[in-house]
Amino acid sequence: MATLIGGIAVSHVPAIGRAIADHRQDEPYWKPFFDGFGPAHDWLDRMKPDVVVVLYNDHGLNFFLDKMPTFAIGAAPSYANADEGWGLPVHAPFAGAPDLSWHLIEHLVGEEFDLTTCQEMLVDHAFGVPMELLWPGRAPPPAVPVCINTVQHPLPSARRCFRLGQALGRAIEAWPVDQRVAVIATGGLSHQLDGARAGFINKSFDQLCLDKLVSDPEALTGYSTRELVELSGSQGVEVLMWIAMSGAMTGRRRRVHTHYHIPISNTAAGLLVIENETARATVPA
Ligand code: DHB
Ligand code: FE
Repeated sequence: MATLIGGIAVSHVPAIGRAIADHRQDEPYWKPFFDGFGPAHDWLDRMKPDVVVVLYNDHGLNFFLDKMPTFAIGAAPSYANADEGWGLPVHAPFAGAPDLSWHLIEHLVGEEFDLTTCQEMLVDHAFGVPMELLWPGRAPPPAVPVCINTVQHPLPSARRCFRLGQALGRAIEAWPVDQRVAVIATGGLSHQLDGARAGFINKSFDQLCLDKLVSDPEALTGYSTRELVELSGSQGVEVLMWIAMSGAMTGRRRRVHTHYHIPISNTAAGLLVIENETARATVPA
């Protein structure tokens, strides 16, 4: 059976992709942000995921406002990247894991989560930038992308996203293949890119989320979408992916690492690494 080793949640700001492309990691603006990633790299080196499930939101590259699935999942052998308008260098295609995709689709639809199945799917900065942050200069493991609509209202509720995560965790552990799986969530934390509150950041709410995502994630499922927009900003609702990731943990959650840096571009940049305690005994020698 597959082992669910844990999860990582990380922001996906396009400016990070530009800084990586321009090798600016050691400049004063960027160094405190990039320095936060060491413990995440160490954890990935130790836990050795064979495959990752990536919870993210598409920003108008693969899905546009005319056709917007609430939840979608990739089932392709590879995923091409393209520039959705930020001018970032286009990433080489990312390897998919179609066997795991089809297992997850069967299991999730069986649990009444009816995701849109995509046998072709472009992935945007919200997929590519976190892959570059977590596996700098090397190929990430094969991935199954899972899209959650945080762009066009109505959005799925925090509770629904948490339950999707729970079903995903059960599905991963029911995969009858000896593989180590990590769940990656991208987006957040608080930010608002437009309107009267452009530049809005809410450090105290972000800190509350970083605490509760490990200690009591169900507490976050009580917020309505309107409350989440108020508290985290109209794009800060990307915290829904973080809530789904936490929901996927099947054992006790152990905090491995937290990093928080304000601001990167307009965003409170967060990083959270959680170990799924049931995987502890399985760490490779
Ligand atoms: C920014 C943040 C995002 O989450 C995003 O998708 C695009 C831009 C920003 O802060 O610039
Ligand atoms: Fe975003």
